[in-house]
Amino acid sequence: MFAVYATEPNPESPLTSLRTGARPDPEVPEGWVRVSVRAASLNMHDLWTLRGVGIKPDQFPMILGCDGAGVLPDGTEVVLHSVIGDPAFRGEETLDPRRTLLTEKYQGTFADYVAVPAVNALPKPDGLTFEEAACMGTAWLTAYRMLFVKSGLRPGQTMLVQGASGGVATALVQLGRAAGFRVWATGRSEAKRELAERLGAHATFEPGARLPERVDAVFETVGKATWSHSMKALKPGGIIVVSGATTGPDANAELQRLFFLQLRVVGSTMGTREELADLLRFCALSGVRPHIGAELPMERAEEGLRAMLTGETAGKIVFTR
Ligand SMILES: NC(=O)c1ccc[n+]([C@@H]2O[C@H](COP(=O)([O-])OP(=O)(O)OC[C@H]3O[C@@H](n4cnc5c(N)ncnc54)[C@H](OP(=O)(O)O)[C@@H]3O)[C@@H](O)[C@H]2O)c1
Repeated sequence: MFAVYATEPNPESPLTSLRTGARPDPEVPEGWVRVSVRAASLNMHDLWTLRGVGIKPDQFPMILGCDGAGVLPDGTEVVLHSVIGDPAFRGEETLDPRRTLLTEKYQGTFADYVAVPAVNALPKPDGLTFEEAACMGTAWLTAYRMLFVKSGLRPGQTMLVQGASGGVATALVQLGRAAGFRVWATGRSEAKRELAERLGAHATFEPGARLPERVDAVFETVGKATWSHSMKALKPGGIIVVSGATTGPDANAELQRLFFLQLRVVGSTMGTREELADLLRFCALSGVRPHIGAELPMERAEEGLRAMLTGETAGKIVFTR
């Protein structure tokens, strides 16, 4: 079958390891299903995989793609949940120490077919296109959990998103606006800040800018480059919800500020199957749809990855099949 895959870890030059071409069809163990992929979205995780971050060297070659939407052999249209846990684990699957995401152990979605446990294929709501549905399983699920499960924010309170144009950042802005939060975002260019405002941000700022007032919650995926600003942006008792560290994890913890202002820092990763089902229902009820900045046939995946590598994103990048 056709696939977009990584041949080996390449920390310095990730795109050198990228290939498009033939890979074996997936094996489908008992209890799993074969999904004919119609669309899958690009996430920073795919660049990490090409770099060899979060994947063991012996797992290569690895088909990229952590989320997607497609069709089961019986014609059912589905959205994929990418968190694959140990069936014996009792408790929330994101806390299962043995859980993996597609592309860490099992082959990903940038291909004609992908195999997933049957429980990881959720019915696709009629109102979502395959392209929109493909954005749900990673960036949008992560944003949903950060906002509605982890932050404790109430409608009317103020949130700051570090980043304006990325996949998780645009999801945070769109979901936050739909939920009745006051949404602020930082963006690295005028065009990126304009995009965030078009998607619902009430105000946008240059990275590191002094804000009109302190905020109730900051949503972080950028890491080292914005961490200090995030800490300074919070009201006493405020919360940072962090799910990524694109610019590096080794930020100054600012412990004095943390304890003196009684700030809270909470980690968040992906989301549960139930949260994905709730997110799909929220989109159906609210009319919110992911902003897709670029849609490319899977054969042109390299163009999308290059845009993400150079920071030229404008919402989600989706590959179609
Ligand atoms: N824990 C999880 O489950 C989970 C799930 C999804 C993503 N993540 C993590 O979240 C991060 C974002 O992922 P994504 O797929 O949304 O990536 P993306 O679409 O490429 O977005 C990157 C974002 O980072 C912002 N950014 C700000 N300063 C930056 C700088 N100096 N260099 C690079 N980016 C900068 C960008 O802001 P501008 O708009 O100003 O360019 C943009 O909003 C990644 O680290 C990813 O691994 C984690």
